[in-house]
Amino acid sequence: MSKLWGGRFTKQTDELVEEYTASISFDQKLALFDIQGSKAHVDMLGKQQIIATEEAEEIKQGLDKIQEKIEKDEVEFSVADEDIHMNIEHLLIDEIGAVGGKLHTGRSRNDQVATDMHLYLREKTKELIELLEAVQQSIVTQAEANVETMIPGYTHLQRAQPVSFAHHMLAYFWMFERDKERLQDSLKRVNWSPLGAAALAGTTYPIDRQATAEALGFEKVYPNSLDAVSDRDFILEFLSDASILIMHISRLSEELVMWSSEEFSFIELDDAFCTGSSIMPQKKNPDVPELLRGKTGRIYGDLMGLLTLLKGLPLAYNKDMQEDKEGMFDTVETLEGALSLLSPMLKTMDVKKERTNSSVTNDYSNATDMADYLAVKGMPFREAHEVIGKIVLYAIQEEKYLLDMTLEEFKGFSELIEEDIFEKLAPEQVVAARKSEGGTGFDQVKDQLHLAKQHLPS
Ligand code: ARG
Repeated sequence: MSKLWGGRFTKQTDELVEEYTASISFDQKLALFDIQGSKAHVDMLGKQQIIATEEAEEIKQGLDKIQEKIEKDEVEFSVADEDIHMNIEHLLIDEIGAVGGKLHTGRSRNDQVATDMHLYLREKTKELIELLEAVQQSIVTQAEANVETMIPGYTHLQRAQPVSFAHHMLAYFWMFERDKERLQDSLKRVNWSPLGAAALAGTTYPIDRQATAEALGFEKVYPNSLDAVSDRDFILEFLSDASILIMHISRLSEELVMWSSEEFSFIELDDAFCTGSSIMPQKKNPDVPELLRGKTGRIYGDLMGLLTLLKGLPLAYNKDMQEDKEGMFDTVETLEGALSLLSPMLKTMDVKKERTNSSVTNDYSNATDMADYLAVKGMPFREAHEVIGKIVLYAIQEEKYLLDMTLEEFKGFSELIEEDIFEKLAPEQVVAARKSEGGTGFDQVKDQLHLAKQHLPS
Protein backbone atom coordinates (compact mmCIF):
# COMPACT_ATOMS: atom_id res chain seq x y z
CA MET A 1 0.00 0.00 0.00
CA SER A 2 1.37 3.42 -0.87
CA LYS A 3 2.12 5.82 1.97
CA LEU A 4 0.41 9.18 2.30
CA TRP A 5 3.92 10.59 2.68
CA GLY A 6 5.56 8.29 0.10
CA GLY A 7 6.69 10.94 -2.43
CA ARG A 8 10.17 11.42 -1.06
CA PHE A 9 10.95 7.74 -0.67
CA THR A 10 12.47 5.27 -3.09
CA LYS A 11 12.15 2.17 -0.92
CA GLN A 12 9.37 0.40 0.93
CA THR A 13 9.40 0.79 4.71
CA ASP A 14 11.01 -2.17 6.43
CA GLU A 15 8.21 -4.35 7.80
CA LEU A 16 9.60 -4.32 11.33
CA VAL A 17 9.94 -0.54 11.23
CA GLU A 18 6.38 -0.25 10.08
CA GLU A 19 5.20 -2.28 13.03
CA TYR A 20 7.56 -0.63 15.47
CA THR A 21 6.55 2.90 14.61
CA ALA A 22 2.81 2.29 14.30
CA SER A 23 0.45 3.45 17.03
CA ILE A 24 -2.84 2.34 15.50
CA SER A 25 -3.18 -0.59 17.91
CA PHE A 26 -3.80 1.88 20.74
CA ASP A 27 -4.53 5.31 19.29
CA GLN A 28 -7.69 4.01 17.60
CA LYS A 29 -9.32 4.98 20.89
CA LEU A 30 -9.03 8.54 19.56
CA ALA A 31 -10.95 7.79 16.33
CA LEU A 32 -14.13 9.73 17.09
CA PHE A 33 -12.23 12.69 18.55
CA ASP A 34 -10.03 12.71 15.45
CA ILE A 35 -13.12 12.96 13.25
CA GLN A 36 -14.58 15.70 15.44
CA GLY A 37 -11.35 17.70 15.12
CA SER A 38 -11.18 17.11 11.35
CA LYS A 39 -14.73 18.30 10.85
CA ALA A 40 -14.06 21.53 12.71
CA HIS A 41 -10.87 22.01 10.68
CA VAL A 42 -12.42 21.36 7.27
CA ASP A 43 -15.45 23.48 8.05
CA MET A 44 -13.10 26.35 8.80
CA LEU A 45 -11.13 25.69 5.58
CA GLY A 46 -14.39 26.08 3.64
CA LYS A 47 -15.49 29.21 5.48
CA GLN A 48 -12.09 30.82 4.93
CA GLN A 49 -12.27 29.89 1.24
CA ILE A 50 -9.03 27.95 1.59
CA ILE A 51 -10.91 25.13 -0.11
CA ALA A 52 -14.28 25.40 -1.86
CA THR A 53 -17.35 25.25 0.37
CA GLU A 54 -18.67 22.27 -1.62
CA GLU A 55 -15.42 20.43 -1.11
CA ALA A 56 -15.58 21.07 2.61
CA GLU A 57 -19.15 19.79 2.60
CA GLU A 58 -18.17 16.65 0.72
CA ILE A 59 -15.34 15.97 3.14
CA LYS A 60 -17.58 16.45 6.17
CA GLN A 61 -20.10 14.01 4.74
CA GLY A 62 -17.33 11.55 4.03
CA LEU A 63 -16.14 11.88 7.63
CA ASP A 64 -19.68 11.26 8.85
CA LYS A 65 -19.81 8.05 6.84
CA ILE A 66 -16.53 6.89 8.29
CA GLN A 67 -17.74 7.71 11.76
CA GLU A 68 -20.83 5.59 11.15
CA LYS A 69 -18.71 2.69 9.98
CA ILE A 70 -16.40 2.97 12.96
CA GLU A 71 -19.35 3.04 15.33
CA LYS A 72 -20.73 -0.07 13.68
CA ASP A 73 -17.31 -1.66 13.94
CA GLU A 74 -17.12 -2.02 10.17
CA VAL A 75 -13.64 -0.68 9.54
CA GLU A 76 -10.36 -2.46 9.75
CA PHE A 77 -7.48 -0.21 10.63
CA SER A 78 -4.15 -0.96 9.03
CA VAL A 79 -0.66 -0.93 10.50
CA ALA A 80 0.67 0.28 7.15
CA ASP A 81 -1.22 3.52 7.77
CA GLU A 82 0.62 3.87 11.06
CA ASP A 83 -1.76 5.83 13.23
CA ILE A 84 -5.39 6.78 13.60
CA HIS A 85 -4.91 10.06 11.74
CA MET A 86 -3.57 8.53 8.57
CA ASN A 87 -5.95 5.59 8.77
CA ILE A 88 -8.91 7.93 8.79
CA GLU A 89 -7.49 10.11 6.04
CA HIS A 90 -6.92 7.03 3.92
CA LEU A 91 -10.44 5.77 4.58
CA LEU A 92 -11.74 9.20 3.62
CA ILE A 93 -9.90 9.21 0.31
CA ASP A 94 -11.17 5.69 -0.40
CA GLU A 95 -14.68 6.88 0.43
CA ILE A 96 -14.90 10.18 -1.51
CA GLY A 97 -11.89 10.18 -3.81
CA ALA A 98 -9.06 12.64 -4.31
CA VAL A 99 -10.92 15.59 -2.78
CA GLY A 100 -10.41 13.85 0.58
CA GLY A 101 -6.76 14.79 0.16
CA LYS A 102 -7.71 18.42 0.82
CA LEU A 103 -8.59 17.72 4.45
CA HIS A 104 -5.01 17.98 5.62
CA THR A 105 -4.52 21.47 4.13
CA GLY A 106 -2.93 23.82 6.67
CA ARG A 107 -2.70 21.12 9.29
CA SER A 108 -0.17 18.60 10.55
CA ARG A 109 -0.54 15.42 12.52
CA ASN A 110 1.30 17.27 15.24
CA ASP A 111 -1.48 19.73 15.99
CA GLN A 112 -4.02 17.07 15.05
CA VAL A 113 -2.89 14.51 17.62
CA ALA A 114 -2.62 17.14 20.34
CA THR A 115 -6.16 18.28 19.54
CA ASP A 116 -7.45 14.70 19.72
CA MET A 117 -5.91 14.20 23.13
CA HIS A 118 -7.31 17.45 24.47
CA LEU A 119 -10.77 16.37 23.29
CA TYR A 120 -10.37 12.86 24.69
CA LEU A 121 -9.16 14.01 28.07
CA ARG A 122 -11.85 16.63 28.41
CA GLU A 123 -14.58 14.05 27.90
CA LYS A 124 -12.95 11.49 30.19
CA THR A 125 -12.22 14.02 32.93
CA LYS A 126 -15.88 15.02 32.99
CA GLU A 127 -16.95 11.37 33.16
CA LEU A 128 -14.52 10.70 35.98
CA ILE A 129 -15.81 13.69 37.93
CA GLU A 130 -19.30 12.17 37.75
CA LEU A 131 -18.04 8.80 38.92
CA LEU A 132 -16.23 10.52 41.77
CA GLU A 133 -19.44 12.24 42.80
CA ALA A 134 -21.16 8.86 42.98
CA VAL A 135 -18.44 7.72 45.40
CA GLN A 136 -18.96 10.84 47.49
CA GLN A 137 -22.68 10.12 47.47
CA SER A 138 -22.06 6.62 48.85
CA ILE A 139 -19.89 8.09 51.58
CA VAL A 140 -22.67 10.51 52.51
CA THR A 141 -25.18 7.63 52.63
CA GLN A 142 -22.98 5.66 55.02
CA ALA A 143 -22.24 8.75 57.08
CA GLU A 144 -25.93 9.60 57.42
CA ALA A 145 -26.62 6.13 58.79
CA ASN A 146 -23.71 6.26 61.20
CA VAL A 147 -23.46 9.65 62.84
CA GLU A 148 -23.87 8.05 66.24
CA THR A 149 -21.87 4.92 65.50
CA MET A 150 -18.51 5.12 67.24
CA ILE A 151 -15.20 3.59 66.31
CA PRO A 152 -11.76 3.95 67.77
CA GLY A 153 -9.78 6.73 66.18
CA TYR A 154 -6.09 5.89 65.80
CA THR A 155 -2.75 7.55 65.60
CA HIS A 156 0.27 5.31 64.96
CA LEU A 157 -2.41 2.62 64.58
CA GLN A 158 -2.76 2.78 68.38
CA ARG A 159 -6.13 3.61 69.86
CA ALA A 160 -6.21 7.36 70.39
CA GLN A 161 -9.69 8.83 70.88
CA PRO A 162 -13.09 7.49 69.84
CA VAL A 163 -14.74 9.16 66.85
CA SER A 164 -18.05 9.06 65.04
CA PHE A 165 -17.94 6.55 62.20
CA ALA A 166 -19.54 9.21 59.99
CA HIS A 167 -16.68 11.55 60.84
CA HIS A 168 -14.15 8.95 59.73
CA MET A 169 -15.99 8.37 56.44
CA LEU A 170 -16.41 12.08 55.80
CA ALA A 171 -12.67 12.56 56.03
CA TYR A 172 -12.58 10.70 52.70
CA PHE A 173 -15.42 12.82 51.35
CA TRP A 174 -13.21 15.91 51.62
CA MET A 175 -10.21 14.18 50.07
CA PHE A 176 -12.39 13.28 47.10
CA GLU A 177 -13.78 16.80 47.06
CA ARG A 178 -10.27 18.17 46.59
CA ASP A 179 -9.64 15.55 43.89
CA LYS A 180 -12.78 16.71 42.14
CA GLU A 181 -11.71 20.35 42.39
CA ARG A 182 -8.30 19.50 40.96
CA LEU A 183 -9.87 17.68 38.00
CA GLN A 184 -12.31 20.51 37.42
CA ASP A 185 -9.50 23.02 37.53
CA SER A 186 -7.43 20.99 35.08
CA LEU A 187 -10.21 21.39 32.52
CA LYS A 188 -9.20 25.04 32.15
CA ARG A 189 -5.94 23.93 30.58
CA VAL A 190 -7.36 20.93 28.77
CA ASN A 191 -9.53 23.52 27.08
CA TRP A 192 -6.68 25.19 25.20
CA SER A 193 -6.78 24.52 21.46
CA PRO A 194 -3.59 23.43 19.70
CA LEU A 195 -5.35 23.16 16.34
CA GLY A 196 -3.84 25.41 13.70
CA ALA A 197 -0.32 25.28 15.12
CA ALA A 198 0.30 22.95 12.16
CA ALA A 199 3.64 21.13 12.26
CA LEU A 200 5.33 23.60 14.58
CA ALA A 201 5.43 27.07 13.05
CA GLY A 202 1.87 27.83 12.06
CA THR A 203 0.80 27.95 8.43
CA THR A 204 0.75 30.21 5.41
CA TYR A 205 -2.99 29.65 4.87
CA PRO A 206 -5.41 32.23 6.28
CA ILE A 207 -6.80 29.81 8.87
CA ASP A 208 -9.05 30.90 11.72
CA ARG A 209 -7.90 29.28 14.93
CA GLN A 210 -10.50 31.05 17.03
CA ALA A 211 -13.24 29.50 14.90
CA THR A 212 -11.96 25.93 15.22
CA ALA A 213 -11.39 26.41 18.94
CA GLU A 214 -14.92 27.64 19.35
CA ALA A 215 -16.38 24.84 17.24
CA LEU A 216 -14.62 22.32 19.46
CA GLY A 217 -15.72 24.02 22.66
CA PHE A 218 -12.22 25.10 23.65
CA GLU A 219 -11.85 28.24 25.72
CA LYS A 220 -8.68 29.64 24.21
CA VAL A 221 -6.01 28.89 21.62
CA TYR A 222 -2.39 28.22 22.51
CA PRO A 223 -0.71 31.57 21.84
CA ASN A 224 2.48 29.85 20.63
CA SER A 225 2.50 27.23 17.91
CA LEU A 226 5.70 25.55 19.18
CA ASP A 227 4.22 25.22 22.65
CA ALA A 228 0.92 23.98 21.21
CA VAL A 229 2.44 20.92 19.58
CA SER A 230 5.04 20.23 22.28
CA ASP A 231 2.86 20.59 25.34
CA ARG A 232 1.80 17.50 27.23
CA ASP A 233 1.41 19.30 30.58
CA PHE A 234 -2.33 18.75 30.44
CA ILE A 235 -1.78 14.98 30.45
CA LEU A 236 0.84 15.22 33.19
CA GLU A 237 -1.57 17.27 35.23
CA PHE A 238 -4.29 14.69 34.75
CA LEU A 239 -1.92 11.88 35.76
CA SER A 240 -0.82 13.86 38.82
CA ASP A 241 -4.41 14.46 39.86
CA ALA A 242 -5.13 10.78 39.21
CA SER A 243 -2.15 9.76 41.33
CA ILE A 244 -3.40 11.74 44.30
CA LEU A 245 -6.90 10.37 43.78
CA ILE A 246 -5.80 6.73 43.61
CA MET A 247 -3.63 7.32 46.70
CA HIS A 248 -6.79 8.37 48.54
CA ILE A 249 -8.64 5.34 47.20
CA SER A 250 -5.77 3.19 48.35
CA ARG A 251 -5.80 4.56 51.90
CA LEU A 252 -9.54 4.00 52.13
CA SER A 253 -9.16 0.51 50.66
CA GLU A 254 -6.50 -0.35 53.20
CA GLU A 255 -8.87 0.60 56.01
CA LEU A 256 -11.64 -1.50 54.48
CA VAL A 257 -9.29 -4.47 54.27
CA MET A 258 -8.21 -4.02 57.89
CA TRP A 259 -11.72 -3.41 59.15
CA SER A 260 -12.92 -6.59 57.40
CA SER A 261 -10.39 -8.73 59.28
CA GLU A 262 -11.42 -10.84 62.26
CA GLU A 263 -9.12 -8.72 64.42
CA PHE A 264 -11.05 -5.51 63.72
CA SER A 265 -14.44 -6.82 62.55
CA PHE A 266 -15.75 -3.28 62.15
CA ILE A 267 -17.39 -3.84 58.79
CA GLU A 268 -18.48 -6.59 56.48
CA LEU A 269 -18.33 -6.02 52.75
CA ASP A 270 -21.27 -7.31 50.75
CA ASP A 271 -20.79 -10.82 49.36
CA ALA A 272 -21.13 -9.41 45.85
CA PHE A 273 -17.85 -7.54 46.34
CA CYS A 274 -15.78 -10.36 47.80
CA THR A 275 -14.37 -13.62 46.53
CA GLY A 276 -13.55 -17.00 48.04
CA SER A 277 -10.54 -19.23 48.28
CA SER A 278 -9.95 -22.25 46.09
CA ILE A 279 -8.75 -24.24 49.09
CA MET A 280 -10.01 -22.68 52.33
CA PRO A 281 -13.79 -22.98 52.44
CA GLN A 282 -14.25 -20.43 55.20
CA LYS A 283 -12.56 -17.54 53.37
CA LYS A 284 -14.26 -14.36 52.23
CA ASN A 285 -11.54 -12.18 50.80
CA PRO A 286 -11.74 -8.40 50.29
CA ASP A 287 -10.25 -8.72 46.80
CA VAL A 288 -11.82 -5.55 45.47
CA PRO A 289 -10.28 -3.10 47.96
CA GLU A 290 -7.02 -5.03 47.74
CA LEU A 291 -6.96 -4.57 43.97
CA LEU A 292 -7.94 -0.92 44.29
CA ARG A 293 -4.96 -0.50 46.59
CA GLY A 294 -2.78 -2.36 44.13
CA LYS A 295 -3.86 -0.27 41.12
CA THR A 296 -2.03 2.67 42.66
CA GLY A 297 1.24 1.32 41.33
CA ARG A 298 0.26 1.47 37.69
CA ILE A 299 -1.10 5.00 37.91
CA TYR A 300 2.06 6.27 39.60
CA GLY A 301 3.92 4.36 36.89
CA ASP A 302 1.96 6.13 34.16
CA LEU A 303 2.83 9.50 35.72
CA MET A 304 6.52 8.65 36.11
CA GLY A 305 6.60 7.26 32.58
CA LEU A 306 5.35 10.47 31.03
CA LEU A 307 7.46 12.76 33.20
CA THR A 308 10.51 10.77 32.17
CA LEU A 309 9.46 10.69 28.53
CA LEU A 310 9.18 14.46 28.32
CA LYS A 311 12.29 15.31 30.29
CA GLY A 312 14.94 16.70 27.98
CA LEU A 313 12.86 16.57 24.79
CA PRO A 314 13.77 19.45 22.49
CA LEU A 315 11.01 21.45 20.83
CA ALA A 316 8.86 20.74 18.98
CA TYR A 317 7.31 17.35 18.14
CA ASN A 318 9.44 14.25 18.57
CA LYS A 319 8.32 10.74 17.85
CA ASP A 320 8.99 9.88 21.50
CA MET A 321 5.75 11.69 22.19
CA GLN A 322 3.74 8.90 20.60
CA GLU A 323 4.49 7.10 23.88
CA ASP A 324 2.29 9.60 25.72
CA LYS A 325 -0.94 7.78 25.00
CA GLU A 326 -0.98 4.33 26.54
CA GLY A 327 -0.33 5.59 30.06
CA MET A 328 -3.08 8.17 29.68
CA PHE A 329 -5.57 5.56 28.45
CA ASP A 330 -4.46 3.16 31.16
CA THR A 331 -4.99 5.70 33.93
CA VAL A 332 -8.38 6.76 32.56
CA GLU A 333 -9.54 3.16 32.34
CA THR A 334 -8.06 2.18 35.70
CA LEU A 335 -9.88 5.06 37.38
CA GLU A 336 -13.13 4.29 35.57
CA GLY A 337 -12.98 0.76 36.93
CA ALA A 338 -11.93 1.79 40.43
CA LEU A 339 -14.56 4.49 40.91
CA SER A 340 -17.33 2.37 39.37
CA LEU A 341 -16.69 -0.36 41.92
CA LEU A 342 -15.93 1.82 44.90
CA SER A 343 -19.31 3.53 45.07
CA PRO A 344 -21.56 0.42 45.20
CA MET A 345 -19.08 -1.35 47.47
CA LEU A 346 -19.17 1.50 49.98
CA LYS A 347 -22.92 1.85 49.76
CA THR A 348 -23.58 -1.83 50.46
CA MET A 349 -21.00 -2.37 53.18
CA ASP A 350 -22.38 -3.34 56.57
CA VAL A 351 -21.06 -1.41 59.55
CA LYS A 352 -21.06 -3.67 62.60
CA LYS A 353 -22.30 -1.03 65.00
CA GLU A 354 -22.49 -3.24 68.06
CA ARG A 355 -18.94 -4.28 67.64
CA THR A 356 -17.57 -0.79 66.89
CA ASN A 357 -19.54 0.78 69.74
CA SER A 358 -18.45 -1.82 72.25
CA SER A 359 -14.85 -1.66 71.09
CA VAL A 360 -14.54 1.96 72.22
CA THR A 361 -15.48 0.98 75.77
CA ASN A 362 -12.63 -1.50 75.94
CA ASP A 363 -9.63 0.75 75.78
CA TYR A 364 -8.03 3.79 77.36
CA SER A 365 -9.09 6.21 74.65
CA ASN A 366 -10.93 8.35 77.22
CA ALA A 367 -7.67 9.22 78.99
CA THR A 368 -7.37 12.63 77.29
CA ASP A 369 -10.81 13.52 78.59
CA MET A 370 -9.75 12.61 82.08
CA ALA A 371 -6.72 14.87 81.80
CA ASP A 372 -8.95 17.64 80.42
CA TYR A 373 -11.23 17.09 83.44
CA LEU A 374 -8.38 17.87 85.83
CA ALA A 375 -7.20 20.78 83.70
CA VAL A 376 -10.66 22.33 83.75
CA LYS A 377 -10.49 22.08 87.56
CA GLY A 378 -7.37 24.20 87.49
CA MET A 379 -4.50 21.71 87.33
CA PRO A 380 -1.99 22.68 84.59
CA PHE A 381 -2.56 20.33 81.64
CA ARG A 382 1.01 19.03 81.71
CA GLU A 383 0.58 17.98 85.35
CA ALA A 384 -2.83 16.47 84.64
CA HIS A 385 -1.26 14.46 81.80
CA GLU A 386 1.26 13.02 84.26
CA VAL A 387 -1.38 12.13 86.85
CA ILE A 388 -3.62 10.38 84.30
CA GLY A 389 -0.60 8.58 82.87
CA LYS A 390 -0.05 7.12 86.32
CA ILE A 391 -3.73 6.19 86.59
CA VAL A 392 -3.59 4.42 83.21
CA LEU A 393 -0.46 2.54 84.26
CA TYR A 394 -2.18 1.49 87.50
CA ALA A 395 -5.31 0.40 85.57
CA ILE A 396 -3.26 -1.66 83.13
CA GLN A 397 -1.52 -3.40 86.05
CA GLU A 398 -4.89 -4.04 87.71
CA GLU A 399 -6.26 -5.27 84.35
CA LYS A 400 -9.14 -2.85 84.24
CA TYR A 401 -10.29 0.10 82.16
CA LEU A 402 -10.73 3.62 83.59
CA LEU A 403 -14.48 3.22 83.88
CA ASP A 404 -14.00 0.07 86.00
CA MET A 405 -12.11 1.98 88.70
CA THR A 406 -13.76 3.30 91.87
CA LEU A 407 -13.85 6.90 93.02
CA GLU A 408 -11.61 5.90 95.96
CA GLU A 409 -9.00 4.53 93.60
CA PHE A 410 -9.13 7.78 91.58
CA LYS A 411 -8.84 9.90 94.70
CA GLY A 412 -5.63 8.10 95.56
CA PHE A 413 -4.17 9.94 92.54
CA SER A 414 -5.94 13.30 92.83
CA GLU A 415 -8.38 14.76 95.30
CA LEU A 416 -9.82 16.88 92.48
CA ILE A 417 -11.58 13.85 91.00
CA GLU A 418 -15.28 13.64 91.91
CA GLU A 419 -18.23 11.41 91.15
CA ASP A 420 -19.04 13.31 87.89
CA ILE A 421 -15.89 11.86 86.31
CA PHE A 422 -17.78 8.69 85.36
CA GLU A 423 -20.20 10.38 82.99
CA LYS A 424 -17.33 12.34 81.43
CA LEU A 425 -15.53 9.11 80.60
CA ALA A 426 -18.43 7.40 78.81
CA PRO A 427 -17.50 7.06 75.11
CA GLU A 428 -20.67 8.82 73.89
CA GLN A 429 -19.74 11.77 76.06
CA VAL A 430 -16.11 11.65 74.94
CA VAL A 431 -17.19 11.91 71.31
CA ALA A 432 -20.03 14.39 71.87
CA ALA A 433 -17.78 16.75 73.81
CA ARG A 434 -15.52 17.43 70.84
CA LYS A 435 -17.60 20.33 69.66
CA SER A 436 -14.80 22.40 68.14
CA GLU A 437 -15.27 23.29 64.49
CA GLY A 438 -14.53 20.25 62.31
CA GLY A 439 -14.38 18.04 65.39
CA THR A 440 -16.07 14.67 65.85
CA GLY A 441 -18.84 15.85 68.23
CA PHE A 442 -22.13 14.40 66.96
CA ASP A 443 -23.61 17.86 66.36
CA GLN A 444 -20.50 18.99 64.51
CA VAL A 445 -20.67 15.88 62.35
CA LYS A 446 -24.27 16.64 61.47
CA ASP A 447 -23.24 20.14 60.38
CA GLN A 448 -20.41 18.65 58.37
CA LEU A 449 -22.78 16.24 56.64
CA HIS A 450 -25.00 19.14 55.73
CA LEU A 451 -22.04 20.99 54.25
CA ALA A 452 -20.87 17.89 52.37
CA LYS A 453 -24.25 17.49 50.70
CA GLN A 454 -24.03 21.02 49.37
CA HIS A 455 -21.03 19.89 47.32
CA LEU A 456 -23.06 17.23 45.52
CA PRO A 457 -25.49 17.68 42.66
CA SER A 458 -29.02 17.53 44.10
N1 ARG B 1 1.06 8.95 15.86
C1 ARG B 1 1.73 10.17 16.15
C2 ARG B 1 1.74 10.39 17.64
O1 ARG B 1 0.92 9.87 18.26
C3 ARG B 1 1.03 11.31 15.51
C4 ARG B 1 1.90 12.48 15.27
C5 ARG B 1 2.90 12.09 14.26
N2 ARG B 1 3.65 13.18 13.75
C6 ARG B 1 4.77 13.02 13.10
N3 ARG B 1 5.38 14.07 12.68
N4 ARG B 1 5.32 11.83 12.88
O2 ARG B 1 2.55 11.08 18.17
